[in-house]
Amino acid sequence: MEEHAVHGAPGGESPRHVSVLAGPVVELLRGLTPGLLSGWIVDATVGLGGHAERVLDALPQARVLGCDRDPRALELARERLARFGPRARLVAARHSELARVVPASIELAPAAFLFDLGVSSMQLDEPERGFSFQADGPLDMRMDPGLDRTAADIVNSWDERDLADLFYFEGGETRSRAAARAIVAARRRAPFLRTGALADCVAAALGGRSSKIHPATLVFQALRRAVNQEGEELASALAAAERLLAPGGRLLVISFHSGEDAVVKRHLAALARTGRFTLLTKSPVEADLAERRANPRARSAKLRAVERAHQPDSGGTRPDLVPDAPLGPEGAP
Ligand SMILES: C[S@@+](CC[C@H](N)C(=O)[O-])C[C@H]1O[C@@H](n2cnc3c(N)ncnc32)[C@H](O)[C@@H]1O
Repeated sequence: MEEHAVHGAPGGESPRHVSVLAGPVVELLRGLTPGLLSGWIVDATVGLGGHAERVLDALPQARVLGCDRDPRALELARERLARFGPRARLVAARHSELARVVPASIELAPAAFLFDLGVSSMQLDEPERGFSFQADGPLDMRMDPGLDRTAADIVNSWDERDLADLFYFEGGETRSRAAARAIVAARRRAPFLRTGALADCVAAALGGRSSKIHPATLVFQALRRAVNQEGEELASALAAAERLLAPGGRLLVISFHSGEDAVVKRHLAALARTGRFTLLTKSPVEADLAERRANPRARSAKLRAVERAHQPDSGGTRPDLVPDAPLGPEGAP
């Protein structure tokens, strides 16, 4: 359940997004092998720069390459991280572009990758971005305005069965067929253009659910995941980190819904089985009571991490994986 508006923030955090599990993230990065503490940490979901700021403050030798697909988020991160000068670099990139963009942006193999998946509170809170069922706005949901397809395109053109499958598989909505049926019936009268109209339609179809969450929560989550191709993006994210991390480097992933966490858990366990990575979190790190109380978003957060073996992979040294070796322009071995 990802939709939580967060207003007000403790300890110098941006009031528009409170970073989740920032303490454990910093501790996992502080535990990097000493030679990597002055390396580049790729914050691949830099958002409003909250985690990046905490890391740069806590690890005075470290540098952060911050990436995000949302140009508005990057603008805000740029302002927030300006005080770190050349220790912070920012670049617009989707996870599916990291394999190319990271080697082109920094000189060394990264000491760590951090992925804090999903949307920021800033994205949810701005009705014109179209993510929210709580405030009416255009039915958009693109994190990156360069994408061609909006949520309205999906809602108004997919057939009923495909919509139902999407709501079930990407949202976990068990009453996906009823939601899809209601949407298809309503759009015959007029296409959906606003989040409010869609939320009302789904609520009318699924109303009466005995739960505290809004009845459209899972349908909106599924649409957001489809618009932003979040499943494919996560697969690219994990593959890029596996490929580019320096020996001894760490991969940290925070996820907010069970399907995503299951993918991360399976992937990290598979990496550990190869012997090339060690699992640092046998069970996921979760927010403590104080953080859960202060930030509702933290309640569903799970942090998992692995460390790459200190020796370069057996079977030959790949220059892009040696910490002191320059990376090729495309990260090519
Ligand atoms: C939860 S927020 C990150 C907040 C950030 N860690 C902070 O502390 O301020 C997630 C960010 O990841 C970005 N994002 C999500 N999927 C992405 C992808 N596939 N590629 C690049 N950025 C992505 C979103 O645009 C959003 O700004």
